[in-house]
Amino acid sequence: MSRIKILSEHLANQIAAGEVIERPASVVKELLENSIDAGASQIQIEIEGSGTRLIKVIDDGMGMDSDDALLCLERHATSKLGGSTNDSNRLSAIRSLGFRGEAIPSIGSVSKITITSRTENDPLGTRLEVRYGKVLKIHEIGCNKGTIVEVKDLFGNLPVRKKFLKSSRTELHHIEEIIKNYCLANNRLGITYTVNSNIIWDIPAATDTLEDRVKMFYAKNSSEPLIPIQNLSRSSKLDNDITVEGFLLSPEQSFATSTKLRLFVNGRAVKDRMMAHAVTEGLSGYLMKGRSAAGVLFVTLPHEEVDVNVHPTKQEIRFQQPNNIHQRIVSGVRSAMESFQKQSKHSIFGSDTNWNDRKAEQVSHPNKETDSANSHTLWDRSPDSVKTEPTESVVYPPFDKDKDFSPARYNEPTATAEPTAPFQQTEMPADFVPESLKPIGQFMDLYLLCEARRGEENFLVVIDQHAVHERILFEKLKKQFNSKQMESQNLLFPKMLELTPESAEILEKNSEEIRAFGIFVEEFGGDNFIIKAVPSVISHLDPEEILTGILTQFSCSDYNHGEGRKRQDATRLDDILASMACKAAIKAGHNLNPVEMQQLLKLMQESKAFTHCPHGRPVVRMFSAAEIKKWFRRT
Ligand SMILES: Nc1ncnc2c1ncn2[C@@H]1O[C@H](COP(=O)(O)OP(=O)(O)OP(=O)(O)O)[C@@H](O)[C@H]1O
Ligand SMILES: [Mg+2]
Repeated sequence: MSRIKILSEHLANQIAAGEVIERPASVVKELLENSIDAGASQIQIEIEGSGTRLIKVIDDGMGMDSDDALLCLERHATSKLGGSTNDSNRLSAIRSLGFRGEAIPSIGSVSKITITSRTENDPLGTRLEVRYGKVLKIHEIGCNKGTIVEVKDLFGNLPVRKKFLKSSRTELHHIEEIIKNYCLANNRLGITYTVNSNIIWDIPAATDTLEDRVKMFYAKNSSEPLIPIQNLSRSSKLDNDITVEGFLLSPEQSFATSTKLRLFVNGRAVKDRMMAHAVTEGLSGYLMKGRSAAGVLFVTLPHEEVDVNVHPTKQEIRFQQPNNIHQRIVSGVRSAMESFQKQSKHSIFGSDTNWNDRKAEQVSHPNKETDSANSHTLWDRSPDSVKTEPTESVVYPPFDKDKDFSPARYNEPTATAEPTAPFQQTEMPADFVPESLKPIGQFMDLYLLCEARRGEENFLVVIDQHAVHERILFEKLKKQFNSKQMESQNLLFPKMLELTPESAEILEKNSEEIRAFGIFVEEFGGDNFIIKAVPSVISHLDPEEILTGILTQFSCSDYNHGEGRKRQDATRLDDILASMACKAAIKAGHNLNPVEMQQLLKLMQESKAFTHCPHGRPVVRMFSAAEIKKWFRRT
């Protein structure tokens, strides 16, 4: 006799429910998806208990006629995979949120479910009552167009599953998270949400923008602006149909967990590590270590290019071209941060953004052509800085990737630039001060205090001098590095050193990149090497320390291959440049004279980015006069 038995439909549904319906929030998710797929513009969600007593979802969608209302209880019954007659084509371009035909029978097998529904064309609706998978009653009923699904006594027939549910607060939190996702993904949708008859949200239909909804859920009490990620330019043919949009919270509002970043693909809330990684990479240099981005990100692409049939809960997806999507997200986030920098510059410097253009000619600068961030030399002359006397400043010829840069083949560096004269100026003309931002002093030899004026409003601006200078130098170094024009300084006394075989190997393996950083090293026989030039920006430091520091950074990278390797390379390069910038920046405890203060502001204004140090710490805070008045109870 055969040992293998076909499971009863009821048992099969319960098994399917085990995957799809994990907790009350899963029911809310499935019912909401059905209502949205039915074209609803207004959805009402009522919860009693923590969802186990009652989950009721009312929508004004297209509804079901009596045949469909009965059919929807059948497993694998769906109205959503129409179109092609070819089964495999049907799954290749899913446009609706549901497609498995499993949710209603699964919910029905573990609860007492009542479905009331009417289509526009039917004078009367249909009401079905089902108890743990068994249809008890079906009859006609007068009702509004749309569908009402009531789910009572969830897991009443599965006490073990019920026991695993968490506290009421946790279950309600999961439900809220689900509702927020659909509110964000469908910002024209009206949603009313009540728990035990208390109205939690009553969000009207068709009035909100996405920004309104993001603010409502994320930043209700915050005055910090949201950072918009806009539709990317559609330059490449390949990317024609991919758009990346959304809003990020400012890096200060980032969180220690990654759950505050909501990701959507073609309107579906998804969990995807690659997408989350891309957002973090786009924010590199703005997010502190251990912090995660917060906000919402929508990727829209042709339905054929994404597989949503990966997991029963439909929250996992597979992209046909994941690298392409990754790159699009990274560049979308980066350009959003660039605009954020411009906006921040405007709020700190006001409309006085032409300061440099207008005033530059009036300043007698000894080397007008030099990049303004070169003026780090002003601070390098601090009494505590140990300086290896430079002989000349050299700019290496453009870095050629295909060239063999093994240490033995290094060419002698040639001086291609005039020696950098030390910054001579001690006085800045009075009108060099930007009208809208005036330095007023320094606090603890660390924070630069300034007064800003925006129209009628005055602000106290506090700037972390080390962090802001670090960022300015980082941007400058990055620009030099990317254009393969890293400035090097020949050492008057080339430094001999002995490297361990491991370090020598790292040097040899990475000679190309190390040279690109402006460090010029030659073999000197055996384990001996000679350092001939170092990056100009840190030429005041001990050359041996510079080289060993960089070798340590190269040795730390156990990165993988392919795209992953490229990504990690980029992070490593940034880390090396950031550590150079950190070493070269004005230190905390450095007393700035008025000229230096002004000069720092000028560098800040000219820099592409300055709001955060390269490690993501914020560098500027603004306090309005109104806020300060409040501290002192002035009205
Ligand atoms: N609120 C609703 N309004 C109109 N029709 C509905 C509604 N809910 C369910 N239906 C109909 O019932 C069918 C079955 O719903 P069910 O949720 O079980 O499957 P599905 O949505 O097709 O796929 P999935 O299991 O992936 O959710 C749907 O295809 C749809 O035709
Ligand atoms: Mg469904």
